Amino acid sequence: MMSMYILCNVTTTGFVYVLLLNHFLGSLARPLYPLPSKFNTDKQQLQTFRPFNIAHRGSNGEFPEETAASYVRAIEEGADFLETDILASKDGVLICFHDVILDNTTNVADYKEFSDRQRTYEVQGDDITGWFVVDFTIAELKTLKVKQRYQFRDQQYNGKFSIITFEEFISIALDAPRVVGIYPEIKNPVFINQHVKWLGGKRFEDIFVDILLRNGYKGPYMSDDWLKQPVFIQSFAPTSLVYASKLIDSPKILLIDDVTIPTQDTNQSYWEITSESYFEYIKEYVVGIGPWKDTVVPPQNNYLSTPTDLVAKAHAYDLQVHPYTYRNENQFLHFDFHQDPYAEYEFWINQMGVDGLFTDFTGSLHRYQEWTSFAAAPNASAADRLLHRISLLIDAYRGK
Ligand SMILES: *[C@@H]1O[C@H](CO)[C@@H](O)[C@H](O)[C@H]1NC(C)=O
Ligand SMILES: *[C@@H]1O[C@H](CO)[C@@H](O)[C@H](O)[C@H]1NC(C)=O
Ligand SMILES: *[C@@H]1O[C@H](CO)[C@@H](O)[C@H](O)[C@H]1NC(C)=O
Repeated sequence: MMSMYILCNVTTTGFVYVLLLNHFLGSLARPLYPLPSKFNTDKQQLQTFRPFNIAHRGSNGEFPEETAASYVRAIEEGADFLETDILASKDGVLICFHDVILDNTTNVADYKEFSDRQRTYEVQGDDITGWFVVDFTIAELKTLKVKQRYQFRDQQYNGKFSIITFEEFISIALDAPRVVGIYPEIKNPVFINQHVKWLGGKRFEDIFVDILLRNGYKGPYMSDDWLKQPVFIQSFAPTSLVYASKLIDSPKILLIDDVTIPTQDTNQSYWEITSESYFEYIKEYVVGIGPWKDTVVPPQNNYLSTPTDLVAKAHAYDLQVHPYTYRNENQFLHFDFHQDPYAEYEFWINQMGVDGLFTDFTGSLHRYQEWTSFAAAPNASAADRLLHRISLLIDAYRGK
């Protein structure tokens, strides 16, 4: 016995998805993915019918952030995209690392040979003191080990993994057994261009784009090239995104910080860059925005207050909205969610209608979406939903 369903819908971002589902009684395999069609590859394609699961610094709720282990774990757990922050070493090699200093997430303080390497530099108007990434060669950086940023997370993998390069990160994504996208950030470009110099006067952004192009990343959002190797380029610096858009046609996302923090390069306020006239301007360069979630729905005394109109406004300009950062732990969950990260996902996906979510816990978001996105399909009958749930239960029972 076989039943086949064709579901069509137009998402908020305006693209049409077609999802074909085959249910064969007795072989209830993973039911939720579109069939591979036009590509000569056995790899399961990127899902594009529900909000993107963006693995923030990998599965960094479990493993030290931005390490190979963290990214491999995120692939296992169902990430659509692997997110990473790109900085540069003293000798110009691009690496996956979040902070401009090594202090908080590596064991650099244990190295006697680097004890005289601490500096104070101005970063975005603030003086910061520490061991700066840009004062270390890639060979030196490779001798360090990464550790967990938060004390309340598992510490057993501290000291086990090295910093990886942007190219090593790309190989992890390309080697995945299914199509997994990448979501690299041009991090602190003003600071990096001040401190690191490349041959021929190339800028940080040039090197960043060269690496993407050399590894086959290209094509506008949802093009065949993009679907083969999906990428979103993100930055808090609008100038870098506008510059990069002359070099590569891949989709770009403008990150938006707290309401009190001006843009790193153009010194524009939060209110300027979320205005209608700014969206009208920036939509020529980006496909969406990545706002901090507390600016979209500001909390008061740890409860959510009335949502702003940011999501609706962005959607009106055909801009996607990918807020950051979703974290399972109680200290990050507003009281409205009753210590339940699934309740938070439910709110942001179904009530706020966002198009992607940066999460520290890819496995949780994946599981939430597997359980709910089919049930929420506009067209599924009660019997379809039941079948889907049974298949998930069987998968869970088999330990898949
Ligand atoms: C490093 O950790 C300290 C102490 O928790 C914090 O104040 C500081 O902001 C962190 N530095 C960076 C660059 O994240
Ligand atoms: C950025 O803008 C603010 C507010 O307009 C201004 O006070 C400040 O001096 C500017 N900073 C720089 C570095 O231009
Ligand atoms: C389901 O959706 C398809 C395509 O939009 C439509 O043709 C069909 O009539 C729908 N079926 C039901 C039962 O609503």
